[in-house]
Amino acid sequence: MYRIGTGFDIHRLKEGRKLIIGGVEIPSDVGFDAHSDGDILFHALTDALLGAVGYGDIGQLFPDNQDKWKDADSSIFLREAGRIIKEAGYSVVNIDGFIILQKPKILPYREKIIQNTAKVLNINTNQIFIKGKTFEKIGELGEGKAGAAQVVVLLKKEENK
Ligand code: CDP
Ligand code: ZN
Repeated sequence: MYRIGTGFDIHRLKEGRKLIIGGVEIPSDVGFDAHSDGDILFHALTDALLGAVGYGDIGQLFPDNQDKWKDADSSIFLREAGRIIKEAGYSVVNIDGFIILQKPKILPYREKIIQNTAKVLNINTNQIFIKGKTFEKIGELGEGKAGAAQVVVLLKKEENK
């Protein structure tokens, strides 16, 4: 038995913040403005995993008005989502996603992002793919005022669970 999940996230970019995507710090003048570290990929992926098993969403599990999640490393959220799907008897078949970011390019960091994500979820790198897209200078995403991530996951029910 298979289940799919989808996740999306967007955050404004501002000066004085680190740009963290997939747990990787990417050199940039601006970073995501968020209560946590603002990792759009890990937030979208957390929601996709939770959604696939109908568990809830990231905001329910980790409310952004709680002090303990201030500047939190978003791998905490993703690791917990991984634990939840496993407990529900599912494992990841594959993950595919894209990052909308006018600049910088994601490509040079892709391998690192994939490796890091695989490590947090304890899966293989060949189960994950991530790519970058600009927004063709359209609107605020295109002006580099924000970045967004969209992710799809496929889960498979483990035998004997
Ligand atoms: O060529 P097209 O309009 O489809 O895409 P683009 O947004 O102009 O981006 C061209 C290529 O740059 C993408 O296919 C990615 O390989 C790369 N890219 C990236 O690595 N990181 C970004 N933030 C944006 C684009
Ligand atoms: Zn977020």
